[in-house]
Amino acid sequence: MFGLPRPLLAAACLYLLLPGGESRFPAYYNGFHYQDISNGNGNGEIYFDGVRLLVESQQPAVSATRGSSVTLPCHYHYEPELAKPRRTRVKWSWIPANAITAPVQTKASARETEVMVAMGTRHRSYGSFKGRVRLRRSAPGDMSLVINELQLNDTGTYRCEVIDGLEDESVTVELDLRGVVFPYFSQKGRYHYNFFAAQQACQDQDATLATFEQLFSEWEEGLDWCNAGWMADGTVQYPITIARAGCGGVDLAPGLRSYGQRHPFLHRYDAFCFSANVKGSVYFLKNATKLNFTEAVQACCSDGSHMAKVGQLYAAWRLKGLDRCDAGWLADGSVRYPITKARANCGPPEPGVRSFGFPPLNMKFGVYCYR
Ligand SMILES: *[C@@H]1O[C@H](CO)[C@@H](O)[C@H](O)[C@H]1NC(C)=O
Ligand SMILES: *[C@@H]1O[C@H](CO)[C@@H](O)[C@H](O)[C@H]1NC(C)=O
Ligand SMILES: *[C@@H]1O[C@H](CO)[C@@H](O)[C@H](O)[C@H]1NC(C)=O
Repeated sequence: MFGLPRPLLAAACLYLLLPGGESRFPAYYNGFHYQDISNGNGNGEIYFDGVRLLVESQQPAVSATRGSSVTLPCHYHYEPELAKPRRTRVKWSWIPANAITAPVQTKASARETEVMVAMGTRHRSYGSFKGRVRLRRSAPGDMSLVINELQLNDTGTYRCEVIDGLEDESVTVELDLRGVVFPYFSQKGRYHYNFFAAQQACQDQDATLATFEQLFSEWEEGLDWCNAGWMADGTVQYPITIARAGCGGVDLAPGLRSYGQRHPFLHRYDAFCFSANVKGSVYFLKNATKLNFTEAVQACCSDGSHMAKVGQLYAAWRLKGLDRCDAGWLADGSVRYPITKARANCGPPEPGVRSFGFPPLNMKFGVYCYR
């Protein structure tokens, strides 16, 4: 177990930003076959005409909200400018932020998958991006990628690659979503989930397993949680803001404590889930403060909605400022309430989503619905 103090993390971040991109992305196959452009004198030498292809992005990192559209900037041009346009191909590919890092792989070689390829006016998109992506083309050389209906799992590193005969240049853009990370454990108790069960548990709460970057920024916001949870990359970690015995000890600086990669089937922990903006709204049902769980399910239903999920309550709290000092049932059978302005009789002196865990289903509380 170790905790990365901030300076070390900062160094790690610097490393990621090294120019050239090669430190982060060692050799990869770009999926295109090069045209054979020789100088024609038969000695196999390649002709170089002194024109360089340059591919740039004005924004190395873009932050967006779930369900919205986002543009990842990418432009190319030639130096010196060409008199006659050349035929280029463009490929956008992607390393998901939730790519599992197998021990023998670097993150870079993990899973660079195709998002879209375009040649002239023709293009093709792949996988979950099918029908959701297009090139902006607002000016010559504008190959910015527009992604519609952003999903929780669209975060990661996108690469814009322009191929022109022998020249092949690329630039990367990071995409992250504004959201919130919360710890989640099973109704059956602590440390109950293997990796796949943790993945499912987050999904059931309208969330996804958190990435390192997401948990790190939640730790910066003050998340302190002394139970280890699965992360999207298959590691197990927990965030500590005040070093103490039993949570990695007092000798370690505050930070994310990591158990590293654990066995996805055999080892069991809690989960760190990431949730972002939801389209609907979460509300505390009026005039309904004494309901058992069955009655609570009914009450939301009669109000034309559903019981809220934990991820939806967290998103409403963090992103929409939901504040309500009344404990209410949620769909998973837990009881919680969201506080943005801490005050007397509403839990600890910091804002947060307060939890009563999973009380017996015959106990009486209010209910949070989602519509
Ligand atoms: C991403 O999330 C969407 C919607 O939740 C889901 O349909 C899709 O399969 C997920 N994609 C991946 C690669 O996990
Ligand atoms: C809630 O209760 C108050 C008084 O207890 C009443 O005036 C109000 O009409 C009730 N609202 C609903 C939606 O039942
Ligand atoms: C909740 O109360 C109703 C009666 O209003 C009862 O029929 C039901 O069994 C109760 N549910 C639980 C989980 O206690």
